[in-house]
Amino acid sequence: MRRFEEVDSTNRWLLDEARRGAPEGLVAVADHQTAGRGRLGRTWEAPPGANLLMSVLLRPCEGPAPLAVDRLHLVTAAVALAGRAAARSVAGVEAMLKWPNDLLVGEAKLAGVLAESALPAVVVGIGLNVGWAPPGAACLGASFARDDVLEALLVALGERCGRWDEVAVEHRRACSTIGRSVRVELADETFTGVAADVTDEGHLLVDVGVCLRTVAAGDVIHLRPT
Ligand code: BTN
Repeated sequence: MRRFEEVDSTNRWLLDEARRGAPEGLVAVADHQTAGRGRLGRTWEAPPGANLLMSVLLRPCEGPAPLAVDRLHLVTAAVALAGRAAARSVAGVEAMLKWPNDLLVGEAKLAGVLAESALPAVVVGIGLNVGWAPPGAACLGASFARDDVLEALLVALGERCGRWDEVAVEHRRACSTIGRSVRVELADETFTGVAADVTDEGHLLVDVGVCLRTVAAGDVIHLRPT
């Protein structure tokens, strides 16, 4: 494990290590990121020493239980589910997954997950609000230690890696997007529908009235019932 007082981005650092052939399981943790990366080109901000900011290097398509490339989303899901398990075991906080990668407490975001690949390596980073949350978001509480959350998360991740079918089942059960009216924002199109299910690949099925559309990547907004 590599610990940083300060780094630009744990995902960026680990991607460079992955390209140099670093092994599966290498973890980067930072007290502070100066250029933390979020999904869709956004930034991820947190004050120094407040939240869990970590990334892990995985090589899921190699080894004894290789994952098919079209199921790579399950790797991201495994990290989100491990964060959910850690929030529950350390702080008693019950979070649900908003597809694709967010952990929510009620409607407030507790954690975000960002997967970036240098295939065959995948780097998955999670920012989990422990002691601080931006306006409108949730955190575990300042009394909880980031290292306890980190340890619980890594144990939970170890239990899930390689057990991809079980991850798919847990993902479906933990996904609060299912049953919600959603707006799906793709690169070139936006549509609305009702989220019907999550597939064994971790993709979202959206009922748009005339058919079910499969969403492999994109942003989803939960719409309030009208
Ligand atoms: C999101 O936009 O919801 C995803 C946020 C992911 C943030 C984490 S913090 C640790 C890791 N390093 C980064 O630069 N980003 C991820």
